[in-house]
This record gives sequence, C-alpha cells and structure tokens, in this order.
Amino acid sequence: MNLIKQQPKHFVSLDTLTLEEIMGMIEESLRYKQGDMPPLFDGKTVANLFFENSTRTKNSFQMAERHLKIQEIPFDVATSSVTKGETLYDTCKTLEAIGVDALVIRHPEDGYYHELVEKLSIPVLNGGDGSGEHPSQSLLDLVTIYEEYKTFQGLNVAICGDLVHSRVARSNASVLKRLGANVVGCSPESWWDDSMGLVHRDIDDILPDCDVIMLLRVQHERHIMGDIFSKEDYHARFGLTVERVERMKPGAIIMHPAPVNRDVEIAGSLIEHRQSRIFPQMTNGVYARMAILHRALGGQL
Ligand code: CP
Repeated sequence: MNLIKQQPKHFVSLDTLTLEEIMGMIEESLRYKQGDMPPLFDGKTVANLFFENSTRTKNSFQMAERHLKIQEIPFDVATSSVTKGETLYDTCKTLEAIGVDALVIRHPEDGYYHELVEKLSIPVLNGGDGSGEHPSQSLLDLVTIYEEYKTFQGLNVAICGDLVHSRVARSNASVLKRLGANVVGCSPESWWDDSMGLVHRDIDDILPDCDVIMLLRVQHERHIMGDIFSKEDYHARFGLTVERVERMKPGAIIMHPAPVNRDVEIAGSLIEHRQSRIFPQMTNGVYARMAILHRALGGQL
C-alpha cells in the first residue's frame, strides 16, 4: 500500500510550474479545441468561489466543468456564511470537509491563497487575486499567442495600460519572459510597476515592431485616488486608436483580457478588427481551464 500522501495540484501562479508543464498545458488546451477529450470526471465536484465579480473567468470555468462532466457545487458569497464573518480559510475548509474536490477562487486580496495552499488537501485554482496574479487568464493568453505564432521565442510583446493594478500583466510579464519573448511595458508613469522587470516604452515608438499588443483594462475600482485621466485623454495618449492600428505590422495581433472600456484602452470599432483576438481569447479560456481542471483532478491523458 502506498502511504505517501499526494500533494494537491494547486494552480495559483504560473511561476510555480516548469516551462515543460506550461507548454504541456498549452498543447493540451489546443488538443481540446481540436475536439480531443480527456477521460471525464463523473462524480468529481468543484466549487467556484467568486468574491469579486466576473463574467469570463467564472462562466468559462463553469463551461469547462460541464465539458468534463464535473459537478459544480453552487457557492454564492452573498448568501453564504461569509456574510456572518466566516473566514476564507473556514469557508474553504468547510467545502473540503463536505467532499468538494477542488476550489476555484477569485478574491480581492493579493496572495489570499498562501494560507490555503499550506493547509488544504484539495487543489486551489486561482481565478485572480487582487492585483496579484491571474494564472488562468495568462494560460489562455499563452494559448492564443501560441496558436498564432507556434513559438514565444523572440516575439515582441507590449503590455500596455494600467500595469500596477493588473494581475494579468504581472502573470503575463513573468511567464512570457521565461518563454523567451521580448516584453516591454507602456503605461502612464503613475501606473508603472518596476517590480514586473519590464523596460518602459512609448506606445508610438514600439507599435510598428510589435507581434502582440496586449491592452489592459483601466481598473477604475482600484483607483483609490480617483481617475487621473479623462477617457478621451487616456485614449488619445495611451490607447489603441483607429490611427495607431494602421501602424501595426499586418500580422500582429491585438489582445485584451476584457472586460473592455470601449474607446478608452481600445477604440470600440477595433474590438472585432481582423487583427483582434479578444473574443478568441475567451473561447480559448474554456480549453485552458479544462487543462487546469484536468491537472488539478489528477486525470491521465
Ligand atoms: N478577464 C477576466 O478575468 O474577466 P472577468 O473579470 O469577467 O472574469
């Protein structure tokens, strides 16, 4: 009998995965997109705990769970005992105690998962932690880039916008550099974040050389001092305007994690532009999250 307890396969940051594991998950996601299916998870249960609002992450995890025949245990923060002061740890430990097999969690606190991954014996799948990380978004972004270019090595990627508040930027800056891309940042000075280790560039200088322009949402809800730009001013100085798109390489792609502030980060008319991959990113999110769930629940391909 094997008495060695398996460690749960948490998915809280791509920094904890090797490049081989990440490339394996990208290829797995693309196989699902082509119609391959892993063995199904009949009888397994997942709870999706969203302490911040979500359209894409929550619904695409739910869609991925359905594709894999995982049963979702509905969890609504507003009607749970969180409203009576229950701690995040106690909520998660309760779900583990009643037999839930994995937890998808979005929470406003950076690094909320540290205590959970130490103490829980079921996997925690990070659906976004404050301004910390958004690894499932990052994986779907990698799938979208790889689908286009079949490599990351030497690609010129610009991450543009509200960098300091962006968990998407933090996750992508780190993993894209590890994968060999040349990553630069373009942002207003007050939204710059040195800790991402990017070179600061002006959008107008780098646009003609970019293979990927990744725009970020202006995160009004995290601007405790209020907004420092009008929408028009931000769009003209830092956004992807109709004029700027003409200066991109013909084969370059436009990405945005969404939700989009139309005519702020990107002109509304460009969201479905032929070079935009914004909606394909969302489609790829389902396959990426199938790969994340498959890894967490210990399936063998
Ligand atoms: N990209 C993203 O995380 O979107 P949601 O906030 O709608 O989940």
